[in-house]
Amino acid sequence: ARRPRVLSGIQPTADSFHLGNYLGAVRNWVSMQETHDAYYCVVDLHAITMGHDPAALRARSRVSAAQLLAVGLDPERCTLFIQSHVPEHAQLGWVLSCITGFGEAGRMVQFKDKSAKAADSTTVGLFTYPILQAADILLYQADQVPVGEDQRQHLELTRDLAQRYNTRFGKTFTVPSAYIVKDTAKITDLQDPTSKMSKSASSPNGIIELLEDPARSAKKIKSAVTDTGREILYDEENKPGVSNLLTIYAALTARTIDDLLEQYEGRGYGDLKKDLAEIVVDFVKPIQERTRAYLDDPGYLDKVLAIGAEKARSVASVTLAEAYKNIGF
Ligand code: ADP
Ligand code: NA
Repeated sequence: ARRPRVLSGIQPTADSFHLGNYLGAVRNWVSMQETHDAYYCVVDLHAITMGHDPAALRARSRVSAAQLLAVGLDPERCTLFIQSHVPEHAQLGWVLSCITGFGEAGRMVQFKDKSAKAADSTTVGLFTYPILQAADILLYQADQVPVGEDQRQHLELTRDLAQRYNTRFGKTFTVPSAYIVKDTAKITDLQDPTSKMSKSASSPNGIIELLEDPARSAKKIKSAVTDTGREILYDEENKPGVSNLLTIYAALTARTIDDLLEQYEGRGYGDLKKDLAEIVVDFVKPIQERTRAYLDDPGYLDKVLAIGAEKARSVASVTLAEAYKNIGF
């Protein structure tokens, strides 16, 4: 049987992925290579909706691609590309924007949140962002899209637009469903363990970046906020700090939480942090080496991304042609 096709993207909006991005998203991209016909894209069109620096964006797109290869994406087993290299995304985005209701787009919670926080830098692009996201997915006739809670509403819009298009203009798009990933970990901020680890964290000490100095990561783990009491227990509500450390530990070692609880029974937070710091350092070092190697060989990276864009276009151009024909172009 044909493998289900999956599409997922990540924004090149930081100099490094953080551990939350890796354990919550990118790690699954690696395993989905084995089970899916996977299309992964660095969504640079989405990264210009709130103001940005051109040189930083260009560098971040490359560093994102290099990190994805470094953590295990294999261009032979998936299609990895940069969104702006495939002009069909913007082309289909326009067409879809013309079948999206203004009020419908205005109900997107993420837009309301982001625009409320940064009213001065809010753009029309931020408003229509979920429509471009729909184009990203529908261009590849994706069967499945891995989604976290924050993206559910956008996937619903994508499904609505696909159905609407198919009804009005004839069957054009596969209506994608949500792919619930079993193995994702939600990672919280090391300094504020009730909020998620995020690049927009209030303190840089709250996030572990894959590409930062590993000694710095170790220090951050050792000074992570822990909870009152001394016992190592897994209790997200009452011991969010320790629970987060256990989650990271289990995810990076493929051990179970129960197994860890047994190992640390009668021992203190200091022991747990010291061991986890070592695990994190051992984990990021080879990723950093491989990322650097890809960045030091720009010709190779360019070639991988050109091949990825070509593979992506071979699918996207067929879908766009069909969509154009059906709508009357
Ligand atoms: P950020 O919150 O740092 O801005 P993004 O929104 O760019 O991160 O997220 C990129 C991907 O990483 C998404 O798939 C998102 O669900 C995932 N992700 C981000 N932060 C975390 C986290 N703390 N725990 C688990 N997954 C996360
Ligand atoms: Na997010």
